[in-house]
Amino acid sequence: MNTREMFKRAVAGGYAIPAFNFNTMEQMQAIVMAAVETKSPVIMQVSKGARNYANGTILRNLAKGAVEYAKELGCEHPEIVLHLDHGDTFELCKDCIDNGFSSVMIDGSSLPYEENIALAKKVVDYAHQFDVTVEAELGVLAGVEDEVAAAESHYTKPEEVIDFSTRTGCDSLAISIGTSHGAHKFTPEQCTLVNGVLVPPPLAFDILHEIEKKLPGFPIVLHGSSSVPMEEVNTINKYGGHLEAAIGIPEEQLREASKSAVCKINIDSDSRLAMTAAIRKHLAEHPGDFDPRQYLKPARENMKKMYIHKIVNVLGSDGKLAQQ
Ligand code: 13P
Repeated sequence: MNTREMFKRAVAGGYAIPAFNFNTMEQMQAIVMAAVETKSPVIMQVSKGARNYANGTILRNLAKGAVEYAKELGCEHPEIVLHLDHGDTFELCKDCIDNGFSSVMIDGSSLPYEENIALAKKVVDYAHQFDVTVEAELGVLAGVEDEVAAAESHYTKPEEVIDFSTRTGCDSLAISIGTSHGAHKFTPEQCTLVNGVLVPPPLAFDILHEIEKKLPGFPIVLHGSSSVPMEEVNTINKYGGHLEAAIGIPEEQLREASKSAVCKINIDSDSRLAMTAAIRKHLAEHPGDFDPRQYLKPARENMKKMYIHKIVNVLGSDGKLAQQ
């Protein structure tokens, strides 16, 4: 399904739909298990990097399998969106639309304003013929995500959002209010030490609220929303990893954002951390194991636990399927 109805309900209900990135079968399984157990709608998203890694055809069929799998797990009416994350050209978006994606993002945020509008409009005009919904982006997020990288962030300018959304016809708008991609969102110098914990600067809620005032009820998307759980980072480092100064977005802030017009929250790095932590721990404790199933099973369990936690305790999308 596309995101239209899902977002309408999420904005009205004051919760956000999880958008989890996936590259592997284990991630897909964990996402579906978590969504079924919590009765949550879910967006499974594929980046250009994921397509390069796993092959677009394979990922698309995994996602088709996800719907059947959810039914097999006992969910009669699953709500699963297959979304292209950070499409950077019309051709890539078109290819995904032609091949069964129900939603795409066109990310022209690094282009000059008018070029961003022209590109997003071209994708919207094509996508809407097939009832595929389109996310566009205004403002620039810092950080590195697969093949998308920017050195600095530029907050979204609220004075541009009405013009941008009207002229592009996009269905949802990704904004920049201080989140960023990856596991190293802030340097320790940017943070304040509170009870031994480095607390990053707060998100720009004033900008979010201004945008909400300009576009009442319009679906807003937050990228770069992993919280980089300390326990996963500590496990990785305890079992031979070396992750320094990994800092994410505090979950309370995402909880607050979920209650606003923010109705899609993107999480990728936390899944990577949960998977790596479980694999490192398993291999360190069972040095004789060499069957991938032995370490991928706990990795899948750990990701599922993380997804359930996000759905229930952060985004509030549990129990929100239209038909239970
Ligand atoms: P994180 O790196 O914070 O998980 O963000 C992922 C993302 O925004 C995907 O588009």
